[in-house]
Amino acid sequence: MFNQGLSLEQAPPISVPFRFFLTAPFFAILIGIMFLVYPADVITNRYSNESIAVAHLFTLGVLSMIIFGAMQQMLPVLAGAIIKKAKLFAFIVHTSLTLGTLFFAINFLSANKLFLLAAIVCLAISFFTFFLVAIYLLFKVKYLTSTVNVMRLFAITGLLTVIWGIYLAISHFTGNLNSNHFNFVNIHIILGIFGFASLLIIGVSFQVIPMFYVALSFPKNLQDRLPLSIFILIISYIAFAFLDLDFYIYKILFTIFLIIYAFNALNALNNRKRIVEDVTLWFWKISLYSLVIAMLNWLFVPQDSSYFLTVLFAFGFLYSLLQGMIYKIIPFLCWFHLSSKGYFNIPTIREIINEDLIKIHFYVYILSLVFFILYGFFNELFFNIAACLFILSNILFLINCIIGMKKYTTILKEDSFQTFVQS
Ligand code: HEM
Repeated sequence: MFNQGLSLEQAPPISVPFRFFLTAPFFAILIGIMFLVYPADVITNRYSNESIAVAHLFTLGVLSMIIFGAMQQMLPVLAGAIIKKAKLFAFIVHTSLTLGTLFFAINFLSANKLFLLAAIVCLAISFFTFFLVAIYLLFKVKYLTSTVNVMRLFAITGLLTVIWGIYLAISHFTGNLNSNHFNFVNIHIILGIFGFASLLIIGVSFQVIPMFYVALSFPKNLQDRLPLSIFILIISYIAFAFLDLDFYIYKILFTIFLIIYAFNALNALNNRKRIVEDVTLWFWKISLYSLVIAMLNWLFVPQDSSYFLTVLFAFGFLYSLLQGMIYKIIPFLCWFHLSSKGYFNIPTIREIINEDLIKIHFYVYILSLVFFILYGFFNELFFNIAACLFILSNILFLINCIIGMKKYTTILKEDSFQTFVQS
C-alpha cells in the first residue's frame, strides 16, 4: 500500500509524516475558535482581513500541512523519489510552515506588519524548500506513471501559487495594492484551489482508490488527459486574466472536469471488487458528493456570495477526503514500521484506531457541515453551533490520531524479539 516494495531504510522515519498530521487538527480547532470569536458576517465576507486569516489557517495550516506530510511519505512510494536527510527536511518544512501560518493569521487580525514580514520569510522557506526539492526529484523520475505526471503538475502549480501568494503578501506589506490586485488574487485562488489542492488529490486518487479499497482503476485515458486539461485551463486562465473577457466558460470547464473526476472516483468506489465495510470510505464519498454539489452551485447559483462554495469545497470536499486518507495512512504506517522492525505480536491495521471512534468523529463532522450549510439560510446561531461541532470533531480527530501513535510507541517499547517469542 503506502510502502509497497519499500524497505524500512528507504521509507522516511514515522515521525516525519506524523508531525504534519498531528499539527493539522490544531489549526482546524483554531479556525473553529475564530468562527466563535468573530461575527459570522465578518468571517464570511470574502474581502475582510479576518476571512483572509481564516482562509490561510485552512489552506496553509490544514491543507498544506497534510499534503506536505503525505507527500513525504508518498514520494518514495509512488514516484520512487527518496528525500535525503528526511528528518532535517521535515523539520525545516514543518517548523517554518507552522510559524509562517501563525504569523500570517496574526498579521491579518492585528494589522502588525512585522508579523507579515515574519510570515513571508517563514512561508517562503517552507514552500520553496518543499517544492524545489519535490520538483527536482519528480523531474528525475525515469519510470513515469500517471501519478508521477500529476505530481509534477501539482508541484508546478503549487510553486506558482506560492509565488503569487508572496507577491500579494508583499503588496499588503508595502501598502501598494494596484488596480490589478484582484486579478492577481483570483489567479492565486485558481492556482491554489484547482492546481495545488485538487490536482494532488486527483493524482493520488488514481493510485490509492484501487489500492486502498480494492476498487476499479480509473480509465487510462482519463488518467492521462484529465489532469493535463485542468493544468492547461489554469495556465490559460492566467494568460487571459487581465483581459476583459467573460470567464463563464472557465467555470463551465472547471465544473465539467471536476465532475468527471468525481463521477469516476464514485464509480470506482461503488463497484469495489471486495465489499468490506470501511468507515474511511464514508469520508471519501461525502467528499466526492460535496465536490459535485459545490461545482454545480458555483455554476448555477451566481447570486451565491461564495459562502456555500467555500463550505462545500473546503470542508466538504478537501478536508473530508484528507481526513479519510489520514485514517488509512496512520494505521498502515504504524503497522509497517513495527512489522519491519521485527515486531510480530501487533494489532492488525484496522485495530490500530478503533473504528467506532472514527465513526463518532465522522458523525460530528457531518453534523458540523450540516449546520454550516443551514447558516446560509438561517441566523448566526447555526454558525456558532457549526463552529462548536467543528471544534469537537477536530478534537476527536486529534485524539484518534494520538491513539494510533500511542499504540505504536507502546509496542515499540517492548522488546521486539520478546514479542516474537510470546506470539
Ligand atoms: C506562501 C503561501 C501563501 C501566501 C503568502 C498567501 C498570501 C495571500 C494573500 C496576501 C491573500 C490576500 C489577497 C487579498 O485579498 O488582498 C491571499 C488570498 C487567498 N489565498 Fe493565499 N497565500 C499563500 C498560499 C495559499 C495557498 C496554498 C492557497 C490554497 C491552497 C491559498 C488560497 C488563498 C485564497 C482562497 C485566498 C482568498 C482569501 C479570501 O478572499 O478570503 N493561498 N493569499
